[in-house]
Parts: sequence; structure tokens; C-alpha cells
Amino acid sequence: MDLTPKPQDRFAFGLWTIGWRADDPFGAPTRERLDPVEAVNGLAEIGAYGITFHDDDLIPFGTQAAERTAIIERFRKALAETGLVVPTATTNLFGHPVFKDGALTAKDRDVRRFALRKVARNIDLAAELGAQTYVFWGGREGSEAEAAYDPTAALERYREGLNALTHYVKEQGYQLRFAVEPKPNEPRGDILLPTIGHALAFIQTLDHPDMVGVNPEVGHEQMAGLNAVHGYAQALWQGKLFHIDLNGQHGPRYDQDLVFGHGDLINAFFLVDLLENGGYDGPRHFDYKPLRTEDKAGVWDSARANMRTYLILRERARQFREDPEVAEARKAARLDQLSVSTLDKGETVTSVLSEELDVDEAAERGAANARLQQLAVEHLMGAR
Ligand code: GCO
Ligand code: MN
Ligand code: MN
Repeated sequence: MDLTPKPQDRFAFGLWTIGWRADDPFGAPTRERLDPVEAVNGLAEIGAYGITFHDDDLIPFGTQAAERTAIIERFRKALAETGLVVPTATTNLFGHPVFKDGALTAKDRDVRRFALRKVARNIDLAAELGAQTYVFWGGREGSEAEAAYDPTAALERYREGLNALTHYVKEQGYQLRFAVEPKPNEPRGDILLPTIGHALAFIQTLDHPDMVGVNPEVGHEQMAGLNAVHGYAQALWQGKLFHIDLNGQHGPRYDQDLVFGHGDLINAFFLVDLLENGGYDGPRHFDYKPLRTEDKAGVWDSARANMRTYLILRERARQFREDPEVAEARKAARLDQLSVSTLDKGETVTSVLSEELDVDEAAERGAANARLQQLAVEHLMGAR
């Protein structure tokens, strides 16, 4: 099994992942700041093809124009030297205290206008660096105090903000698409657009729904107690899986941002199977946090671990699909029948009105699901 990540695997990492200094609500950072150029070099070395960033990851909040230009030039040089690309970028609309009660949906109108400016400025940079996707994660768009909130008005403002920004992208002639990242909570008690389903429905209300898709994160769906594979599958089915965040999570609890596969491994296996066989062709982007316990070497070990897990699962999924016993078990479980339309061409509901089914016989037929699931688990475990 070739487990060497290659650029064509399109593995990408957020600068904020490997660069996380590991400060949490209970403790101070355990690591030094990672220089963005060091991040680019390190990622190229381990076989990634892309790096993504929030504006503030690269250019600290409040940096003056001349210094900003110098930082960008230095970063651009590192990209050119390594061949690493920037497939995606995003805005930090959550870190600065000014966003404590929201950004694009803040009740304070001045803050909303400032947020638009901050996004537009970084969209310019993203376009300049050749990004194709721009992510919107509204971590502070939400509330803890119902009495002081109006979710309907907030949705209206979210829609207004995203509409204005799609208009901006079109005006500027950029080839950027937007991807909304759902999350149920954290840092807000409740965040707007908490799941993939909420986001998909919201997108249809926008002025340019074709320009906007989703950027689901494995752990965020699992925080909501949902099956991430089903959510990603629906987004893919609706042509809306523009980008993905891969990581690990153990069920509904705080956002663990573990290495991909270090949470629900069975779900990760089926997710890779879906991505590889379901027509997803975007970057395999990891949004994880190297454990707070790790030093620099541990950070890079964990970055490699994400890609290694993905490659192993890809290979296991391939073997699973090629196994003749699996093919036979899929047939026994009637998976092939699910792909056949219920009515023939030209038929209507009237066509089935006169049909009869021996319901007792049909109810007795076993679904043969358990055997197929065990075959998958055995492939996943390397037992076959
Ligand atoms: C989280 C989120 C963030 C976003 C990122 C992109 O862990 O809560 O995933 O990491 O993905 O901010 O905007
Ligand atoms: Mn997360
Ligand atoms: Mn994410």
C-alpha cells in the first residue's frame, strides 16, 4: 500500500491547524507561534498540496498596509518556491472582541458593516492568490440569550450579507464560490445554520444560490448527533459539496477537532468511500487541532496522521468494493435495487393501483444488512 501523500491527492491544511498554539479556555498556549513560511515549507515537505488561512492567521489583526504587503510577498514567495497552492481562504469573524455578539448578523449595524469590509478585503487577497473557494464559518453568529435575540432577523441579515458579498465577487470578476460551514454550537451557545441541512435550505434563498455551497466538517455534524456521511452525501447529491473539513470527533460534546479517523473510525471509512466513489473532486482539507500535549514534532506527526489515515481508508474502501463476496452481499442486501426507479418510464401511481403484493411473504424477507456491514468492518480492520 503506497501511503506517501502526493500533490494529486489534494491534501490541504488550514494554517490555523498546524499553527494552533494550543491555548484553551483553561490554559495558556503550550507552543510557539508557527511562522507561515515555515508552515508552507513543512506542508510541502510532508506531501500536502494546499494551505488555507483566515486573514488574521497570515496577517495579524490591525497590521498596517506596508507590513501587510511585506507579509503577503513573503508568503507568496514561499508558495512559489514549494509549489503549494491556496485552494481556499476564509475570514476570521470571531476572534476579535468586536465580534463578540456576531459579525454579519451582529445587532450592532456598525459591526456588520465592518465585517463586510473585512471579508471583502480578504476576498481580494484570496482571488489574487488563486483560491477557488471562500469559506464562511459563522462561529459568532448566534446567541446564548433568547430574549435578546431574533433568529428570523438574524437570518435575514445573514442572507443580506452573503448576497452583498456574492454581488461583490461578480462585480470584481473573481472566479470564487462560497462555502458555508455549519456548526451547532461553540463558541456561541447556539449558532445559526447549525447543520448541513439548515445550510442547504438557507442557500436556496440567496440571490445567487449557484455560487454558494457548503463546507461541512465531520466533527460538527457529529456534535449535533448526526451521521456525517449522510449529510455529506446529501450535499453531494444536491451539487453543493464545494469543500470539506475532515477531522475526528467522539459524539456530542465540545468540538474536539481530532485527527481524521481518531474519532468515529467507521464513519470515517464510509465517508472516504463516499468521497472517492461519489464524485467529490475538491481538496481533502483537514481542519483539526494538534493535541495540546504535543510539541513541534508531535504537530507534524499529527498532520501526517490525517493524510495517512485518509490513504489507508481509501485503499480499504477500494478493496471492500472489489471483494467478490461484498459484491454478492450487496446484491443480497438489494442495494442494486435501490438504484432502480420505482416506476418504469411512462408509469404513474395509477400503474401500481391494480398490483398486488403478498405482504406476509415480503415482510418475511430478511434485509441481509448485518453481513454486509460486518464485511465492511472486516475490511476496515484489515482482516480481509
Ligand atoms: C471550528 C471551525 C473552524 C472553521 C474555520 C474556517 O473548528 O469550529 O471548523 O475551524 O473551519 O474557522 O472558517
Ligand atoms: Mn471544528
Ligand atoms: Mn472547520
